[in-house]
Amino acid sequence: MTALETPLQKIKADLRHYASSERRGVSTAFVFRMFLLTPGFQFVFANRLQEIVVRIPVIGRLLRRIIWWATCLIFSSEIALAAKVGGGLYVPHPYGIVVGSATIGRNLSLLQNVTIGHKSLDDVYDPVIEDDVQISAGAVLLGPITIGEGAVIGANSVVLKDVPAGGLAIGIPARIIPAAAPSVAAGADPFVASAL
Ligand SMILES: CC(C)(COP(=O)(O)OP(=O)(O)OC[C@H]1O[C@@H](n2cnc3c(N)ncnc32)[C@H](O)[C@@H]1OP(=O)(O)O)[C@@H](O)C(=O)NCCC(=O)NCCS
Repeated sequence: MTALETPLQKIKADLRHYASSERRGVSTAFVFRMFLLTPGFQFVFANRLQEIVVRIPVIGRLLRRIIWWATCLIFSSEIALAAKVGGGLYVPHPYGIVVGSATIGRNLSLLQNVTIGHKSLDDVYDPVIEDDVQISAGAVLLGPITIGEGAVIGANSVVLKDVPAGGLAIGIPARIIPAAAPSVAAGADPFVASAL
């Protein structure tokens, strides 16, 4: 989660995650389909584009904000300008998502209607999401929590505490189960069927 990635490396990792969700490789036709006809990938790419344009002297910050604004309007989803998101982001259904200021590692699977952010206005520290985490539909993650590598957050869970690496969080407030479910531990992506 620590090594710095360029926006291009992140985009390549994003494409690989989308391809692996379909159990296939990244081909030219696949890349065209992602860029032209896949809303989830377009949402992710818009976030990467913001990282690219912000480097343009003088107008970069304004351009980034314009792209961020347009992305919010088009998808009704938002990743905050202050959020740091690693490569390999997979968002199959980019609707109703709000990611506030947070640090997010590689290969996150982020489902629809997920909220990640501060618990109150007094919160100083941001949530930290480590590598290879899966956050299911409707989950809400609040406060200065750390979601450990490979953890799975169940649908509609409200997570207010740390989740250990490989752990499962389910329910409201989330019950933490230390070892991941066998299907998850075996490396299967529970969202594969939803990628189409
Ligand atoms: C969290 C999740 C990955 C766990 O799947 P799993 O490992 O197969 O777990 P199981 O179905 O065996 O459930 C284990 C226990 O957790 C409970 N549970 C599972 N998901 C839950 C959830 N989201 N909220 C509350 N409890 C849940 C089950 O009832 C079961 O409880 P029990 O042991 O008391 O019977 C899965 O239930 C889930 O939430 N997937 C979300 C997928 C999604 O967002 N799909 C959207 C596609 S568009």
